[in-house]
Amino acid sequence: MKIGILTGGGDCPGLNQAIRGCVVQSLCFGNECIGILEGWKGLYHAESIPLPIEEVDKIVGKGGTIVGTSRFNLIRRDHGIETVKASMAKMGIDALVAMGGEDTLGVASRLFSSGVNIVGVPKTIDNDLFATDYTFGFHSAVSRAVEACESLIDTGTSHRRIMVAEVMGRHAGWVAAFTSLAAGADWCIVPEFPNDYEAMYTHLAKVWNRKKTGLVIVSEGVELFKDSEEKECDDFGHRTVGGVAGTIADMIQRATGIETRSSQFGHIQRGGSPTVYDRILGLRVGVKAAELIEEKKFGMMACLRGDHVEAVSLEKAVEKLKTLEKSWFELAHLFFY
Ligand code: F6P
Repeated sequence: MKIGILTGGGDCPGLNQAIRGCVVQSLCFGNECIGILEGWKGLYHAESIPLPIEEVDKIVGKGGTIVGTSRFNLIRRDHGIETVKASMAKMGIDALVAMGGEDTLGVASRLFSSGVNIVGVPKTIDNDLFATDYTFGFHSAVSRAVEACESLIDTGTSHRRIMVAEVMGRHAGWVAAFTSLAAGADWCIVPEFPNDYEAMYTHLAKVWNRKKTGLVIVSEGVELFKDSEEKECDDFGHRTVGGVAGTIADMIQRATGIETRSSQFGHIQRGGSPTVYDRILGLRVGVKAAELIEEKKFGMMACLRGDHVEAVSLEKAVEKLKTLEKSWFELAHLFFY
């Protein structure tokens, strides 16, 4: 079989390893892989590159995705699905592997319903995909954020300042809560749960007396400006988020009288080489995708359940988002002492 691999949505550490896993396992089955360039856009325009073993030899520990990515939504294009079927025939592709988050996998599910041989691989630094315990990219993003927080604590302590760090996570506070726990933050604000600002100010003032600094983690998805600002939307209708940390820092400084600064980590969390955990998870779900294709189990997605890589239907995988569980948020709060 000839297998087309594509990566869609935001890139994330572990994608190259998932590609490598899929290519190597496919070669073992006697199948060939090609890379579709820039997600659904490349499939729509029939643009691909070969993915021989020599290519994947180079990406063992590399971040990003060698086939490129985009947020191109082919369902919104005229005759999107028919065009894709024609592209697949033109490129001689028998089956597709779509690696992505809710948007990319949502399109994959639609394509499967329209008769396309397709399987999915879950990826997102946000860790908000339902039906899989963890997505690769998340561990790397949190690790990067924790390292950056340690720098903030150094400079914050030196200047006796409170530091506010904004982390990624459009709809979900997983990155924020895990960063808060691992970096020893003093407060955390996530989109899922309302923030008690008065309690935060009181607590930060108390902590500052003890540590002469304080660290607040805020998820970029926190809504401070509802309806007050027009923001750009991507092809899937998602508003661009981010930029709340500065406002929160101003609010803290005004309320407590303690000098406060902010930092937005942004895409630094998404680039760079994956952690060992993400490298191995990427490889495992990539291998699983190649197996699903070999077994002709189309319409399925590789997923992590406990320590096992299993399969779940694409339809179920995109049914809803996995937002931060209350127990994780409560655990983070335990350390705001
Ligand atoms: O891929 C998920 C994500 O990193 C979100 O955390 C973030 O809100 C969004 O992508 C940013 O997207 P872009 O890189 O297109 O601005």
